Amino acid sequence: MEIIIRPTSLEGSLLAARIVARTVREKPHAVLGFATGSTPLVLYQELARLHREKGLDFGSVAAFNLDEYIGLPVDHPASFHHYMRRNLFEHLNIRPEHVHIPDGLAADIPAACRKYEDEIRSAGGIDVQILGIGTNGHIGFNEPSSSLASRTRIKTLTRQTRLDNAADFGGVENVPPHVITMGLGTILESRMCLLLAFGAKKAEAVSRMVEGPVTASLPASVLQLHPRSVIVLDREAAADLERAEYYEWTNSQKPEWQKY
Ligand code: GLP
Repeated sequence: MEIIIRPTSLEGSLLAARIVARTVREKPHAVLGFATGSTPLVLYQELARLHREKGLDFGSVAAFNLDEYIGLPVDHPASFHHYMRRNLFEHLNIRPEHVHIPDGLAADIPAACRKYEDEIRSAGGIDVQILGIGTNGHIGFNEPSSSLASRTRIKTLTRQTRLDNAADFGGVENVPPHVITMGLGTILESRMCLLLAFGAKKAEAVSRMVEGPVTASLPASVLQLHPRSVIVLDREAAADLERAEYYEWTNSQKPEWQKY
């Protein structure tokens, strides 16, 4: 794992945007995996700015989102369809037919999940998968105890995650219990996993992800098995890491060609 600690979330977000932008410049047909939540918002604003001001071209890019609630209309303000349109896609020149988000309204959920996996495969696989992390260590909506080999499927949210997301729904009782999420096995097939975590409330999950054992009890720890996972943190999220000094030293010693 490559651990990058930046003083602030803004600096971390801008660094992540450089990684994504470089991928798109080098590979115009890049396939990007997107996450929702508050963490990637500044990264998305920066991608929108790079498109607007620097002509970063998303005309051939394909997008796959990690997850979606089951049963929410796509224009519900808390749906991930709505989030992605408002926070990113309407600010880019990405083509609507290149955008993929799990269909939480599908009549046949298992069939929709299989189709989603097929679509990722037909697109050539995901080049960069952007990830956040839940306070309980989930990625996507792969809650603790998710199989480390899981594929896109239905999951039931934990009470902790429903509490974390309650504000979007005006109360925990309104948070849908079920979601569709890419599996951990699906995520691991991405060529690069780019996980962002900011703020003190992520510090414990981050330290277990990076320095704890690989375990389904902390799903993000599966990224230790990925050959190219880049973990971008601010100082607060990095506060519980035992080897923080080593990670910072490693970064300061990077040869020029390896810098982002
Ligand atoms: C959500 C999403 C995840 C996200 C996580 C953290 O439930 N399914 O993709 O990474 O929770 O959210 P936030 O970035 O708001 O802390």
